[in-house]
Amino acid sequence: MEIRKIKVENSTIIKPFDCGDDDLNEFLLEKSKNYQQELLATTFVFEDKTKTCAYYSIFNDSFRIKDLSFLSKNAIKNFLRQLLPHPKRHLKSYPAIKIGRLAISKQAQQLGLGRKIIDTIIDYAIRQNEQCACKFILVDAYKDAVGFYEKMQFEYFSDSDLNDEIRQMYLDITPIINVKRENM
Ligand SMILES: CC(C)(COP(=O)(O)OP(=O)(O)OC[C@H]1O[C@@H](n2cnc3c(N)ncnc32)[C@H](O)[C@@H]1OP(=O)(O)O)[C@@H](O)C(=O)NCCC(=O)NCCS
Repeated sequence: MEIRKIKVENSTIIKPFDCGDDDLNEFLLEKSKNYQQELLATTFVFEDKTKTCAYYSIFNDSFRIKDLSFLSKNAIKNFLRQLLPHPKRHLKSYPAIKIGRLAISKQAQQLGLGRKIIDTIIDYAIRQNEQCACKFILVDAYKDAVGFYEKMQFEYFSDSDLNDEIRQMYLDITPIINVKRENM
């Protein structure tokens, strides 16, 4: 089965899609073009001849320290120390790419497409860093999908959303880029 990746544009005919989640289906089928036109989110689909197998939607974002206000000052300090060894470089916000949405059709789940999409986004983040810095990939992960993001090496900001339906997770690009630099 040949699958091709295309960017959603106004003229794109989006093929049928069902990942089992109404909101995620609706975003692709009814909202993604508007988000594209308004420059709010860029969406890519993976499709075969008859249907959409997967899609993801990303945009520029920032991770703000004030988003961690539920943590104690010490906990924030420790978190930052772990991320940035140089205290002088501690900032109020950090550049990021946000995965707004990511979904695989019911028939195509557990076949490696999710991993392929995360790898694609990491590759993009690495390339973006050549022109414009970006430290994190962020996602508000559905509870049922956190195991997937854990496998992809994403981490939690805190345990405070442990029992929530959605959990905030991040992937730090820095070690990935450092390994790349060492191998150059
Ligand atoms: C969650 C989702 C994105 C995963 O994509 P996928 O293509 O099915 O996952 P992959 O086949 O690439 O799996 C990669 C690894 O993650 C694991 N994995 C996949 N989904 C998982 C889940 N829900 N929980 C725990 N682990 C999961 C796989 O077993 C695999 O592990 P392995 O490398 O040890 O074999 C996909 O199932 C999906 O779209 N689900 C419905 C919509 C959704 O929840 N979207 C996320 C919104 S935040």
